[in-house]
Amino acid sequence: MSTPTVHRGLAGVVADTTGISSVNPDTNSLTYRGYAVQDLAEHCRFEEVAHLLWHGELPTAEQLAAQDAEERGLRALPPDLVGLLLALPPTAHPMDSLRTAVSVLGANDPGEDDNSPAANHAKSLRLFAALPAAVALTQRRRRGLLPLEPRADLGYAENFLYMTFGEVPEPAIVRAFEISLVLYAEHSFNASTFTSRVVTSTLSDLYSAVTAAVGALKGPLHGGANEAVMATLAEIGSADRVEGWLSRALAEKRRIMGFGHRVYKHGDSRVPTMRAALGEVVEARGGEDLLAMYEALASAMLREKGLHPNLDYPAGPAYHLMGFDTPTFTPIFVAARITGWTAHIAEQLARNSLIRPTSLYTGPAERRVGRGAPPA
Ligand code: CMC
Repeated sequence: MSTPTVHRGLAGVVADTTGISSVNPDTNSLTYRGYAVQDLAEHCRFEEVAHLLWHGELPTAEQLAAQDAEERGLRALPPDLVGLLLALPPTAHPMDSLRTAVSVLGANDPGEDDNSPAANHAKSLRLFAALPAAVALTQRRRRGLLPLEPRADLGYAENFLYMTFGEVPEPAIVRAFEISLVLYAEHSFNASTFTSRVVTSTLSDLYSAVTAAVGALKGPLHGGANEAVMATLAEIGSADRVEGWLSRALAEKRRIMGFGHRVYKHGDSRVPTMRAALGEVVEARGGEDLLAMYEALASAMLREKGLHPNLDYPAGPAYHLMGFDTPTFTPIFVAARITGWTAHIAEQLARNSLIRPTSLYTGPAERRVGRGAPPA
């Protein structure tokens, strides 16, 4: 029998087809349902992109108004969930709160196990609408503040920021935040999306698939990198310390968070758009020193390792300057990626096949249970 080829980390494995997004590393491009992500970031509200991912087309004005009306009515968290999240230990990471929130929303949904397309779309919209309240609650709690009720007169991004900070910030901040949501919304068969598809393929429910995806996104090699970027920049401290810090870090074989990518090897297609948004945030809020450090580390990494930044690199400092605490960065990623995850869950169910790879066994050769010789 010939030895099968092992694809560690499933690198390069084409696991299925998808009609949701396309990542092309040769042209550094990413499209959602055929639209370049830069085009969507420039021209669309996040709600329109959610519609595009779920339904395959950008919404008409009527479709958007109908989706908005429904979404705005679903933004508040059930009071028992608010109580439960506030009862978690203050030391709990906001990603743990969010993972719990999704799971509890599922447990409270009498239709949790209904996997019909209509029921799952309703659940997708419910999570999309309610997650900002959960993220805002954890951020406010960190500062000793009580949660705020959502405002139905505001768009998704504005309401998210309002619920977090108690006011709608200046338009440049809202725009940069919205751009980050659009860029984070979808990225093909990344680890968390694939996780959601694996869970869905067993015919489990959407909340379980999303809860598992939140867990996958938390890791620093995936979504947790946007938090780790900020920790790195805080550790370095200033642009003039970048070179010394990096040579020590590389000598210690440390991974520099926010750099490198499994698919893009010549730069992440989303970075220029998010870097421009970061520039707008610096213009509005200050942070020139942070930006100088950002540029210095990016140049040094390209020179020393030939590695380009990924989306988490500009997103981390942008969220910091917007006023978010670092542990809230990955939860924002969740709120954006819920659109992509739920689109993939629907696609998986539409033509399901259980995801169950095989492995090459390398343990002990076959043996028998024996009593062996008694000890001497
Ligand atoms: N810092 C230092 N060295 C790196 C880095 C990095 N960020 N990324 C890759 N390398 C090196 C790695 O050490 C290895 O070197 P060697 O062959 O000498 O052992 C080589 O490059 C290949 O690394 P790999 O881990 O086998 O490559 P991969 O394609 O599996 O890695 C990655 C992809 C994202 C896990 C990796 O680049 C990484 O750990 N980056 C830092 C974490 C990060 O920023 N994650 C966010 C990913 S993108 C957005 C998202 O999902 O949130």
